[in-house]
Amino acid sequence: MSPDRDALRRDNAQYIWHPMAHPGAMKKNAPDIVARGEGCWIWDVDGHKMLDGVGGLWASNLGHSNRRVRDAIVAQLDELPFYNVFRGTSHVRAIELSTRLVQMMAPEQVGAVMFSTGGSDAVEGALKLARQYWKLRGQADRTKFISLRQGYHGVHFGGMSVNGNTNFRRAYEPLLPGCFHVDTPWLYHNPYGTDDPAQLARICADLLEREIVFQGPDTVAAFIAEPIQGAGGVIVPPAEYWPLVRQICDRHGVLLIADEVVTGFGRAGTLFGTRLWGVNADIWCLAKGISSGYVPLGATAIGRKVAEAFDTDASGAATVTHGYTYSAHPVAAAAALATLEQIEELDIPGHAARVGAHLHARLAGFVDRFRVVGDVRGRGLMAGLEMVADKARRIPVPRTSDVPSRVAREAYRRGLMVRISGPNLILSPPLVITLEEVDTMVDVLEASFAAVEAQP
Ligand SMILES: Cc1ncc(COP(=O)(O)O)c(C=O)c1O
Repeated sequence: MSPDRDALRRDNAQYIWHPMAHPGAMKKNAPDIVARGEGCWIWDVDGHKMLDGVGGLWASNLGHSNRRVRDAIVAQLDELPFYNVFRGTSHVRAIELSTRLVQMMAPEQVGAVMFSTGGSDAVEGALKLARQYWKLRGQADRTKFISLRQGYHGVHFGGMSVNGNTNFRRAYEPLLPGCFHVDTPWLYHNPYGTDDPAQLARICADLLEREIVFQGPDTVAAFIAEPIQGAGGVIVPPAEYWPLVRQICDRHGVLLIADEVVTGFGRAGTLFGTRLWGVNADIWCLAKGISSGYVPLGATAIGRKVAEAFDTDASGAATVTHGYTYSAHPVAAAAALATLEQIEELDIPGHAARVGAHLHARLAGFVDRFRVVGDVRGRGLMAGLEMVADKARRIPVPRTSDVPSRVAREAYRRGLMVRISGPNLILSPPLVITLEEVDTMVDVLEASFAAVEAQP
């Protein structure tokens, strides 16, 4: 029976508050209601078919109808739908998944993983473990966190406090004390007047070091950053940045936390984003692609150095008084195991790198072709197109501009779902997308920008 579409829109307006949306505005403008998905394609409740340029939300990496993930979920529901992993209890899928993850992250020298239910959880776990680590090491004053402007680390109080976008924080301040932000190495927008990536990397790395020294290194627990900033506008740092950050963290004994919620499991063309930069973190935050979005799951992966401090503690202070009822939910763990098997078998990171190179080669021409496109950036299957009011001066369209939403509507009409975040149009399709589907995506975008620019 097909759903009563008007009733769905009415009930949506009445009963759901959406993340990152004004409840009143959502009552006036009904959201796009997605009804079905298959591979890289989705259908809305009106039966309109679209390429999923959003990948669920950077998450549906294996596409929407992956049989093996589905079968694993069903089998798990039959075997054991739920059990907890709190002290004294475990279950088979949790053990299998932790083993697989630690094996996958052998080059990262990961010692153990702690599960949760999403990206914000994974970040919260990372921040808490970082503080606990320093208490175990006898440096209880190391409580501060430093992070990057434009960074996004979820919505819990810790993650929100290290977020580098004040829009996400204002309504909920005051936040966690002891969180400080430094400039992101952002070539397109930087106040240092440089277009030289290596120079910008040095300037921004220096800013981080100066902040650590200013705060007092013995008070800084960790620096947290995304290997490529996603929600902030797909900002790719210069290749020199992360190696410099690693050196600075080592120099001052600061832990490095890589928030890989978006970049983990292949999206940027490598299994983990830190591999892009040839750098190891001390703690990794994982979610989204870990279970291909089929069931909510997060994980905090703990490097051996940090894990060892917990393992060898004899005082009892290493007890991890953190975790959730649904940490390592068996159905999520089963979905993740089936996902990770296929990521390796199909070489999903390699595919994302190849198909992503084609995507970026095609998108690169948009800057010259379209008046409103100021910058195109990204890596692998993550891309951001920044829309500008003044191209010469690199001034983004203001928040009040309807240009981004008009482009998105044109794309929707032509069969492509995209995401708008501020002045940016963001593409993060499933990682199984084919070259032909990438071409379709870019063709639709081209037509959509052309249509908007042709409008008065
Ligand atoms: C880098 C990063 N960290 C954390 C999060 C939060 O994840 P979740 O929405 O699953 O809580 C996100 C979400 O997009 C993210 O992009």
